[in-house]
Amino acid sequence: MIKQAIIPLAGLGTRMLPLTKAFPKELWPLGNKSILENVLDECFDTGINEVILVISKKKKSIKDYFKKDTILEKKVKNKPELLKSLKNLNKISSKIKFVYQDKPKGLGHAVLCAKKLIKSKHFLLLLPDDIINGKNSSKELIAINKKTNSSVIAIRKVIKKDVKRYGIVGFDNSKNLKINKMVEKPSVKNSPSQFAIIGRYILNKSIFNYLGKQKSGKLGEIQITDAMNAMLFHENFYGCKFKGKYLDCGTINGYINSFKEINKK
Ligand code: UTP
Repeated sequence: MIKQAIIPLAGLGTRMLPLTKAFPKELWPLGNKSILENVLDECFDTGINEVILVISKKKKSIKDYFKKDTILEKKVKNKPELLKSLKNLNKISSKIKFVYQDKPKGLGHAVLCAKKLIKSKHFLLLLPDDIINGKNSSKELIAINKKTNSSVIAIRKVIKKDVKRYGIVGFDNSKNLKINKMVEKPSVKNSPSQFAIIGRYILNKSIFNYLGKQKSGKLGEIQITDAMNAMLFHENFYGCKFKGKYLDCGTINGYINSFKEINKK
C-alpha cells in the first residue's frame, strides 16, 4: 500500500515572475481552494495518510497557510462555510510534514531532501504545476503499481516541437508501456518518442541512491529524469496514459486557462 507522498514546492517560479516573487504560485486560487489543496485532495483521496512538503525559507507562507489560527476561527464562528474551510486546513495540517531545501538545486535534489521521512518501498510524487482534472490520476498510477509492483510515471503525448520542454520517455514495449529510456528536454531529433512525463510519479525508494550520486544536468540542476534513467537499468518503470484533462499551472497563460477550465459549469 502506498501511504506517503512528496510534493516539492521549493522552486523559484521564475516563469511567473514578478507575481511569484513574494507569493508562492502553489497558494494561488484554483476553483474554491488553492492549487496546492487541489493536489493534496487528490493525494488524500487515494488513501495517502502522510504528505511531505518540501519548502524553502522564501516559501514559509505555505507553512503559515496551514497553521491553526484561533483568532480567525473565532471571528468567523457564525459563518459555517468559512469556519469549515479553516477547520479543513487544520485537518490537512495533521497529515503533512515540512522539510526545507536550503538552495534550489533542482527537483531531484528537492526529492532527496525528503529521503529520511520515506518509510515504505514506494511513494507518490506530485508536482503542483500539473493539475489533472476530471479523474484522479494518482489512483490510476497506484492501480498500475499494484499490478506490476514497479515504478510508474504519468505520460501524455505532446506535439513534436514541444518535446524540448519536457522529460520524454521511450518504450521497450509500446503495448504495456514499459519504459526503456528517459531524456530531459531533448531536441526533436534526439527525442525517443512524443510522450512527455507529467508531474505524477510512483517511485521505488531506491531512487534516493541514484539521486545521491546524480551530478547536475540540464539547467545546472539535479534532474530527477536523469536519476530515473540511471535506475532503468536495474528496475522496471511503466507509463500511465491518464484519463483526466491536463492543465498547466506553471505559466501565466496556462494558469489563466486552468482557472477558466476549473470554473466551467
Ligand atoms: P520547475 O523546474 O518547474 O521550477 O519545478 P519552478 O520553480 O516551479 O518554476 P520555474 O520553472 O522557475 O518557473 C518543478 C517542481 O519542482 C519544485 C518546484 O517547486 C516545482 O514543484 N522544485 C524545483 C523544488 O522544489 N526545488 C528546486 O530546486 C526546483
